[in-house]
Amino acid sequence: MKFKVIFSLFLLVAVTSVHAGLEVGYYEKKNCSQAEKIVREVVEKELGIPIVLFGYPLFDVSVGPGLVRLLFHDCFVRGCDGSVLLDKGLNNSRSEKDASKNLGLRGFEIIDEAKKRLEETCPGVVSCADILVFAARDATQIMLNAIYHEYIEFNVSSGRLDSKNSFYDQVETSLPPPEFNLKELTDLFSLRSNENLNVTDLVVLSGAHTFGVSHCSSIKNRLDSNDPTLDQNYAAQLREICRSSTHPDTNPVVNLDKQTPYELDSLYYQNVQRGTALFYSDSSLLNGTETKDLVNEYAQPVNDWAEDFVKSMKKLSELNVMFDTDPEGEIRKICRKVNNKVNGY
Ligand code: HEM
Ligand SMILES: *[C@@H]1O[C@H](CO)[C@@H](O)[C@H](O)[C@H]1NC(C)=O
Ligand SMILES: *[C@@H]1O[C@H](CO)[C@@H](O)[C@H](O)[C@H]1NC(C)=O
Ligand SMILES: *[C@@H]1O[C@H](CO)[C@@H](O)[C@H](O)[C@H]1NC(C)=O
Ligand SMILES: *[C@@H]1O[C@H](CO)[C@@H](O)[C@H](O)[C@H]1NC(C)=O
Ligand SMILES: *[C@@H]1O[C@H](CO)[C@@H](O)[C@H](O)[C@H]1NC(C)=O
Repeated sequence: MKFKVIFSLFLLVAVTSVHAGLEVGYYEKKNCSQAEKIVREVVEKELGIPIVLFGYPLFDVSVGPGLVRLLFHDCFVRGCDGSVLLDKGLNNSRSEKDASKNLGLRGFEIIDEAKKRLEETCPGVVSCADILVFAARDATQIMLNAIYHEYIEFNVSSGRLDSKNSFYDQVETSLPPPEFNLKELTDLFSLRSNENLNVTDLVVLSGAHTFGVSHCSSIKNRLDSNDPTLDQNYAAQLREICRSSTHPDTNPVVNLDKQTPYELDSLYYQNVQRGTALFYSDSSLLNGTETKDLVNEYAQPVNDWAEDFVKSMKKLSELNVMFDTDPEGEIRKICRKVNNKVNGY
């Protein structure tokens, strides 16, 4: 009996001491307690103060959408491992950035700037994968606080390592196209997250389409096919913008949210209800009772979307990470390049 207790205690200690994982405040233990503060300062500087005056934004409206989408595209391809940040794959091959699904991806300079400052302060300590998570969190929190007057707590865990490769070939099957229907979306979210992201997370995270832009090429199929789930007046306006470019090579952009294009609010869900959300994938959230009920809930003037978005973003940020015990990972010195020269630098 006594032996059993001691033995189980021993097992418990053994198990917890080898247990690798993410934790809130990881860099405090790594002698870099300033890590999160430095990323925050860079994001605040780049974003500015999120004020919209008579419809005109007084801040850099690309920062929020850029960083939030960057996190999604990092985490769905292999996992949250900074692989989306690399300029090249192995042997100078194409990287994830070169894939068509990553058209318009932006925010890389913000990650570079934060990394540069962190390498000056605590060299070789903070991974690019974690920097991206911190930056997406900060942009989200700043944008949410501008809309929702109560302070929304948003701690993220850290301790991720960076990948030593970028996975160009996996982008196409890992990320959803805007033509996906509800079943395809739920299946992909479940698969990419080892069943960690459910239909609630799908509906909640789709709310990120409340700010930012899309290129016309991403809605071409929907406009050309006269998709009946798209409001016809809105379709006509979109066709006008998308045709208005005089040069055939240009690919104009349209706002994702026709109501409040620069704000991280829940009006996206009203767009979905009215057929004025931009993508077929957005409209398809109405094609199932569970997801439709959630859309209707978040379309209410008062709702819990902001709190739920924070929770789903945390889940997203923890998908398939490499812990600090994983020999496959490293802490890159420059987020665009792996440390060793195998990939052509
Ligand atoms: C549910 C399936 C999704 C599909 C089919 C989808 C598709 C797209 C497409 C086609 C674009 C426009 C790209 C372009 O033409 O420039 C876009 C933009 C965007 N997406 Fe998604 N997306 C999905 C989910 C998400 C999620 C989960 C997030 C983040 C949590 C997200 C965040 C964004 C943001 C913020 C933009 C605007 C980016 C910018 O302005 O730079 N999307 N998405
Ligand atoms: C912790 O970092 C400071 C500089 O930020 C450095 O002076 C100190 O030597 C570091 N300590 C350890 C144990 O690495
Ligand atoms: C990269 O190039 C080296 C030398 O040319 C070769 O041995 C290796 O197999 C290549 N690796 C990949 C993944 O293509
Ligand atoms: C979030 O982080 C702050 C600062 O580290 C801490 O004071 C707070 O207790 C944390 N909250 C949760 C829920 O972990
Ligand atoms: C999805 O997961 C969250 C927990 O992460 C849970 O609160 C929610 O009820 C789940 N939704 C469904 C439809 O299972
Ligand atoms: C809704 O989903 C069903 C299958 O669940 C599919 O057959 C139908 O085409 C979908 N309708 C729309 C408008 O997406």
